[in-house]
Amino acid sequence: MVRPLIAGNWKMNGLGRDLAEARAVAASLAETPAESRVAICPPATLLARMAEALSGSSVLLGGQDCHAEPSGAFTGDISAEMLADAGARLVIVGHSERRAGHGETDAMVAAKAAAAVRAGLQPIVCVGESRAQRDAGQTLEVIRRQVAGSIPPGMAEGGFALAYEPIWAIGAGATPTPDEIAAGAAALRQSLIDCAGAAGRTAPILYGGSVKPDNAAQILKLPEIGGALVGGASLKAADFLAIIRAQA
Ligand code: PGA
Repeated sequence: MVRPLIAGNWKMNGLGRDLAEARAVAASLAETPAESRVAICPPATLLARMAEALSGSSVLLGGQDCHAEPSGAFTGDISAEMLADAGARLVIVGHSERRAGHGETDAMVAAKAAAAVRAGLQPIVCVGESRAQRDAGQTLEVIRRQVAGSIPPGMAEGGFALAYEPIWAIGAGATPTPDEIAAGAAALRQSLIDCAGAAGRTAPILYGGSVKPDNAAQILKLPEIGGALVGGASLKAADFLAIIRAQA
C-alpha cells in the first residue's frame, strides 16, 4: 500500500514571515502524525529557509520546477541537483502554469522529470485538460496523450507521482464532479501502466484544482486518487492541515 501524498504548491507566494505557516504544519504533524506524506513546495527564494524551518519534521520540501540540465548557462533557471542540494526531496514538473506561461511541451516535461530522477528527487508530473478540451469531449484523450509524452522511460517503482489538474479548476473554486475525477483518474492509471508498467501501477495519482477543506474528504476517498496537489489552500496552516487531516 503506497502512502498518499498531500503536496502544497505555494506558487509565487511567500515571504520569510510566511515560514510560520510551514512551522505550524510541521508542529501539528509532530504532535499527531498524518496518514499521508506531506510536502510543501515554496518559491525558490524560500527553499533554504524552508529546509531549516522543516528540519527534523516529517514535512518534505519540494521545488516547483527544474531545468533539465544539471548546470550551465541558463539564467534564472534552477537544476534538479540544486533543488536536492537545498534539501528538496520532490519537484513539481509540467504544471499547467509552466506549460501555458513558459511554453513547456510534453517532451520538455519528460526531460525535467528525468532530470529530477537523476538528482534523486521524486517528480510530481502534472497533466490536465483545458475548459475548451473538456467541452469538446476530449478530456480523456488529452490527458492520456500528456501522460504518454510527459513520463520518461525507465521510471522506477516509488519514483514518481502524477497530478491530475484540470486547468479550468485551478484557482477557480470549481472542481469536476467526483465521477469526473474518478473517470480521469481511471484513465490515467491505465495510461501510467501502459507507459511505466509496474511503476505506473503504484504511482500515486494526486488530484489538484481548488482542493479546499470542505471538498478534500470527498475527493481523497475516490478510487485511484492517492493524494492532492493544493495551491491556494496550502498557504495557511489551518486550511492545509484540514486537508491533510481529511485523508482517512
Ligand atoms: P489551487 O491550485 O488549489 O489554488 O486551485 C492547484 C495547483 O495549481 O496546483
